[in-house]
Amino acid sequence: MKFFVDTADLAEIEEAASWGVLAGVTTNPSLYAKIGGRVADFPAHIQRICKVTKGPVSAEAISTCRDDIIREGRQLAALAPNVVVKIPVSTAGLAACRVLADECISVNMTLIFSVPQAVMAARAGARFLSPFVGRFDDIGGDGIGELQAIIDALTNYDWRDAGIAEPVGGSLQQAPEIIAASIRTVQHVSAAALVGADIATVPFNVLRKCLEHPLTSKGMEAFVRDWEKVSQA
Ligand code: E4P
Repeated sequence: MKFFVDTADLAEIEEAASWGVLAGVTTNPSLYAKIGGRVADFPAHIQRICKVTKGPVSAEAISTCRDDIIREGRQLAALAPNVVVKIPVSTAGLAACRVLADECISVNMTLIFSVPQAVMAARAGARFLSPFVGRFDDIGGDGIGELQAIIDALTNYDWRDAGIAEPVGGSLQQAPEIIAASIRTVQHVSAAALVGADIATVPFNVLRKCLEHPLTSKGMEAFVRDWEKVSQA
């Protein structure tokens, strides 16, 4: 499983990139609002993120009609070679995805909560599919169960004829990659890996927690203490 960081905060992205495991970034309008972003600065902000990571960087189209999504998608894709256009799943979104994928523009279809939504997005040429785990749990659903169902359903088929556009900086694959999204906890990250998600997009604070374990800290302290004894012997 690859790790994306789910944030628009440049400092968080830079720190996650410095750890050597960052494969990409996902942003959305809410995450951009959270850092106090302004519309006029959005293109330059995405370009700055694209310089920090060479992996796929999802930037979301906010239009809701097919032609507007297409226009916005082209503008976003022109910002940097590793931009992936994020589009919420809908009839207009699917139609726009098909056009953009045929132009070799990679699409991340987002706000996916069901197997039919995922399969239709893949048929529309989406390069990435983002099933939301946490938000499904929030309404009493089984986010990881649905993620697993989507992965299982996708593996039933050959996607070579789906016309999927490959992203610059992404890996060459013939099927859409499943991004476990709306991740809230370390347990979600474990479960996403166990069900075989290609990618987990993880908020920075959860990404850091993934590295923490009381026995790791205890063990490190003991190594340092014991080496001091060795040094004084
Ligand atoms: C996915 O790409 C989304 O940005 C994200 O995972 C949404 O997560 P949330 O439910 O925590 O807002």
